[in-house]
Amino acid sequence: MKKFLWAMLISFLFILGACGGGGDEEGGNGGDTEESSEEQTDGDVDVEAAEQVYEQSCASCHGGDMEGNVGPALNEIGSKYSSEEIQEIIHNGKGSMQAQNVEDQDAELVANWLASME
Ligand code: HEC
Repeated sequence: MKKFLWAMLISFLFILGACGGGGDEEGGNGGDTEESSEEQTDGDVDVEAAEQVYEQSCASCHGGDMEGNVGPALNEIGSKYSSEEIQEIIHNGKGSMQAQNVEDQDAELVANWLASME
């Protein structure tokens, strides 16, 4: 049930992003301009911004819906790792995953978000 809610939320954000953003996906440092996200901030996690980091840095290996691809599925990763542990994996790599070149604050954002997946 929780997963279903997340899926709803994520597709909702996706639609909003597609309409409102109008092609602001330039690969550079985009992401921190959308402070005004409506009521979707879940606790202190900015889901929309976290999703952008995920899309840019993680989705190619972990799948667009965290279903896994080259890397394992992350859709229940919060039941396995804390945000701190995920940040460590992002910065230092793990097994066959190399360290990712992600800004500290983005790593924290995406790790907080992933840690809520359980
Ligand atoms: C180049 C491909 C690649 C990218 C990009 C990548 N990963 Fe991974 N990731 C992997 C692989 C492969 C593993 C499995 C490593 C192992 O255990 O041997 C993994 C493992 C993980 C794990 C541990 C999963 C588990 O169940 O133990 C986490 C957490 C994780 N990745 C998070 C991320 C995050 C967050 C990002 C984006 C910032 C990211 N990864 C980007 C390939 C990738």
